[in-house]
Amino acid sequence: MPLNIAMDGPVGAGKSTIADAVARELGILHLDTGAMYRAVGLTCLERGVDLQDEEAVTALCAEIDMTVTYQDGGQRTWVDGVDVTGGLRTEAVSMAASAVGRYLGVRRIMVALQQKLAASTDMLMDGRDIGFRVLPNATVKIYLTASAEERARRRYLQLQEKGGADTYEQVLEDLRQRDYQDMNREVDPLRAADDAVVVDSTGSTFEETVARIIALVEEKSK
Ligand code: DC
Repeated sequence: MPLNIAMDGPVGAGKSTIADAVARELGILHLDTGAMYRAVGLTCLERGVDLQDEEAVTALCAEIDMTVTYQDGGQRTWVDGVDVTGGLRTEAVSMAASAVGRYLGVRRIMVALQQKLAASTDMLMDGRDIGFRVLPNATVKIYLTASAEERARRRYLQLQEKGGADTYEQVLEDLRQRDYQDMNREVDPLRAADDAVVVDSTGSTFEETVARIIALVEEKSK
C-alpha cells in the first residue's frame, strides 16, 4: 500500500504551502485538489458556462480532459492539453471553484481522478473531503485550521504581495462566505474525518506546524 496522507481544512489555513513543505521533506508528491476544482471553475468562466447551471457545469466537467503533472517539484494542472496553472489563483476563480464544488456530478469525477492518482503513488493530498471521501484509508489524516481572523490576515498579506487592492475587511468577508459555502453545501461539506488529528496553526509559525505534522506522520506510519 502506498503512503497516503490526507490533509483537509478551510480556506487560508495554509494547507497548500504546509502540504508542499511536508511532502518535500518526506520525498513524496503533493496533490493540491483545490487546483482541480479551480481548473473546472476557470474553464466554466472562460467558456461562458453559467456557474448556477448544475447540468451544464457537470457536462463540461465530464467532457474536459484534466491531467496533473509535476515540474521542478511543483504541480501543473492541465485542461484539454493546456497548462492552466497560471490562471487559477484569482478571487473570481476562487469563488467559481467553490461554486462548482457544490455539484455531486463534479465531485464524483474529481474524486475518481484523485483516487486513481493516489492508488499506486506515495502522496499527500490536500482538500476538503480527502479524509472522509477520497482517501478513507489514508495512513494519516490531518485537519488543519486556524481562526478566521488569522486566516484572513495571512491571505490579505499574500494578496498584497501580488499587488491586490482588497482591504482586510473584504478578504475576511470573502473568506467567511467561502467557509459558509464549503461547510454548508449538501454534498460532502468540509469537515474533519472522525479519525483525523486536528492541527490548529493559530499562533504557530510555519516551521512549527510543519514539524508537528512530520512528527504525526512518523508516529502513525511506524
Ligand atoms: O483549496 P482551494 O482554496 O484552492 O480550493 C478551492 C475551492 O475548491 C474551495 O472553495 C472548495 C473546493 N474544493 C473542494 O470542494 N474539495 C476539495 N477537495 C478541494 C477544493
